[in-house]
Amino acid sequence: MALIRFGISLEDSLLERFDNLIEKKGYPSRSEAIRDLIRDALVMESWRTDASEAVGTITIVYNHEKRELADLLTDLQHEHFESIISSMHIHLNEHNCLEVIVVRGRARDIKTIADRLIATKGVKHGRLMLTTTGKDLE
Ligand code: NI
Repeated sequence: MALIRFGISLEDSLLERFDNLIEKKGYPSRSEAIRDLIRDALVMESWRTDASEAVGTITIVYNHEKRELADLLTDLQHEHFESIISSMHIHLNEHNCLEVIVVRGRARDIKTIADRLIATKGVKHGRLMLTTTGKDLE
């Protein structure tokens, strides 16, 4: 794999803000920060093609005392067992649970599962974090 150096022209104020940001984030160099931005853009783009393989985590917070909700969330996960690799359940306090569900499959299918879980009545908060299997990225 050949490394290519290239120049970027941009306003000094923009570069200053970028340098401040990457310092806060702890990047060792501008190059590594820009590589991450490029990879992120490529991963985001790959989600558009629905058949592309993706992995992700669905995080939900809900009240376990609502029995029907807990049952429904379990039913939904069984319905999609082929896409769900693993899940972790944390009892946050007397009432609330945090569940992190690891999914793998076509981006379209993962999005559908996440939408259904997050949209379930009683789920207080939910987020899908989609990422890549890393196969097509250096
Ligand atoms: Ni719990």
